[in-house]
Amino acid sequence: GAESQISADLLEWYDREARVMPWRVGPAERAAGERPDPYRVWLSEVMLQQTTVAAVRDYFRRFTERWPDVAALAAAEDADVMAEWAGLGYYARARNLLKCARAVANDHGGRFPETADALRALPGVGPYTAAAIAAIAFDEPAVVVDGNVERVVSRLFAIEAPLPGAKPELTRLAGTITPQARPGDHAQAMMDLGATICTPRNPLCGLCPLRRDCRGYAAGLQTVLPRKAPK
Ligand code: ADE
Repeated sequence: GAESQISADLLEWYDREARVMPWRVGPAERAAGERPDPYRVWLSEVMLQQTTVAAVRDYFRRFTERWPDVAALAAAEDADVMAEWAGLGYYARARNLLKCARAVANDHGGRFPETADALRALPGVGPYTAAAIAAIAFDEPAVVVDGNVERVVSRLFAIEAPLPGAKPELTRLAGTITPQARPGDHAQAMMDLGATICTPRNPLCGLCPLRRDCRGYAAGLQTVLPRKAPK
């Protein structure tokens, strides 16, 4: 149906246009069945909360060089981790990072749990992060919704109800276009689309792989959605 066409068009675009990031695997490795290391996916997702991709890159490289796996990070001195984190902000994230690494090392034999439900029980791992790790590292068709995805979905389905009230409906609709195959690529394609094409102010609809399916574009609403409730 229309939903599977949306995901097919999006994945075809992603195969051509995916942004290269140190925690992603390339299309060739992926086609060969490789998945990204859950540790690297988790670390990148925690760093990317409230921080841009551009700012995270170098921190991610330094962390993974110094602590290449979750056991190494779990064994690190708190002060060393806090010093490497300096500049990323939101220092509670760094403290939860260590707590989580130690929980995985001590309570899970050094292996990340493989489902979104189980991941959510880890320190500092909320619904978004759990879904992102489950989809990207373990191919679970979890529904991954961040601010970029909310914007893309609100436009795609021309949802006029304002945020934050519309969030459950946007999450439901995000689920209707999440494919069983390649859910991690689908999630990251939604993020890339939101970051590079379906941008907040001046969306580049002329370049969008989903323009044909976009009800917001058809209605000329692409620049006013998503609406926000007055504070
Ligand atoms: N923002 C958060 N996670 C991301 C990811 N995996 N790719 C791109 N942007 C992101």
